[in-house]
Amino acid sequence: MLNIHVKQGLTLLICLLSVLFAGCPTVETGPAIEPDYVLPTGFPQFPIPSDNPINAEKIDLGRRLFYDTRLSSDNTIACANCHKQEFAFTDGGMQVSRGVDRELGNRNSPTVVNSGYAPSLFFDGRAPSIEEQAFGAFTNPIEMRADVAVIDKFLMNDSAYVAHFSRAFGTGSVPSSKMAMKAIATFIRTVLSGNSRYDQYIHGNKSALNPSELRGMNLFFDYRTQCATCHSGYNFTDNEFHSTGLFTHYYDKGRHDFTRNPVDVGKFKTPTLRNIALTDPYMHDGHLATLEETLDHYNQGGKQFINKDPRILPLKLTQEEKNDLIAFLQSLTDEELIHNPKFGKK
Ligand code: HEC
Ligand code: HEC
Repeated sequence: MLNIHVKQGLTLLICLLSVLFAGCPTVETGPAIEPDYVLPTGFPQFPIPSDNPINAEKIDLGRRLFYDTRLSSDNTIACANCHKQEFAFTDGGMQVSRGVDRELGNRNSPTVVNSGYAPSLFFDGRAPSIEEQAFGAFTNPIEMRADVAVIDKFLMNDSAYVAHFSRAFGTGSVPSSKMAMKAIATFIRTVLSGNSRYDQYIHGNKSALNPSELRGMNLFFDYRTQCATCHSGYNFTDNEFHSTGLFTHYYDKGRHDFTRNPVDVGKFKTPTLRNIALTDPYMHDGHLATLEETLDHYNQGGKQFINKDPRILPLKLTQEEKNDLIAFLQSLTDEELIHNPKFGKK
């Protein structure tokens, strides 16, 4: 926030000085209206790329575009089709996602919540920014299959969008798909979640978790399970790539698709566990239907696989311990996220 205040202060100062001459300067990148988002307690400021500064109008525009099916080749698919608010911005029960012409993809739709903190996007980390990631989804033949020239034309000819782009990017800016993705990325950065009962507990409300959830929490953070060494920090991810030994042979090679390094075969980005009770099914290919199945996978220590992380070992959890761990994972649901009207369709 500090940056924004300093920037605004500067703009104001330049404004005051230049009023004497020719009125306020228009900021090339859009008006410096205080962006309206709240960082959850304990979360740092997310990074903001220098070529895509944040402002309230851009968040608003990004939100409109995120829900607009007219951005896909057959006008049926918006980002929000696969990233639905009620399922913590995943697609709700689909094993792999379905794009235009109802074509199936090969990966499970992950949440976009708290993505602004991720140094790389996608299960294999191939996108370095949300801007690039969004452009990837937008042009992907089995996601939105958008023709950039067609969408550019649509945006330029839509008077409502022309007005919104002007407000978000500065007067006279001409709407384009590229700017649309910048706006969507800006909106996504503000879709934050950090107010689950677990958060309320660690910030002082000692009655927020029941005894079973507390036992599960202790197991989760215990050396014995190692869960929190990968699912670490405020977003329950180390943002690294690991194989948990899901298969003895991986058809989807994961991180290897990007690095081509044999040690990366079968490695996928550690997903956040926030809102995990809402984002089933699980894993990159969605082949584990429930949290029970996912815990069974960990309890067995995964399958034999050359790149399996050495921390994935048989855990010998009792049925009660498994239930406690699941209860803890369920306490990571943030009701505020799924009901916040600021994240919904406008
Ligand atoms: C057809 C379903 C579908 C549509 C439409 C779609 N996505 Fe996705 N999204 C996915 C899937 C599947 C992945 C994971 C792909 C992978 O890892 O290779 C993903 C990954 C992401 C991620 C990365 C999350 C992470 O933690 O790595 C973000 C952010 C995202 N999508 C945003 C968007 C935006 C913005 C749009 C619209 C421009 C969009 N998606 C459209 C299915 C979809
Ligand atoms: C070595 C790092 C590591 C450890 C230790 C680890 N995980 Fe994971 N976890 C991952 C990775 C990587 C994935 C994604 C794997 C994939 O999609 O192939 C994952 C996926 C998950 C998922 C599914 C997430 C989703 O959105 O689909 C859950 C739930 C989960 N882990 C819980 C746990 C629990 C509980 C423990 C402790 C018993 C644990 N993990 C230990 C790295 C780890």
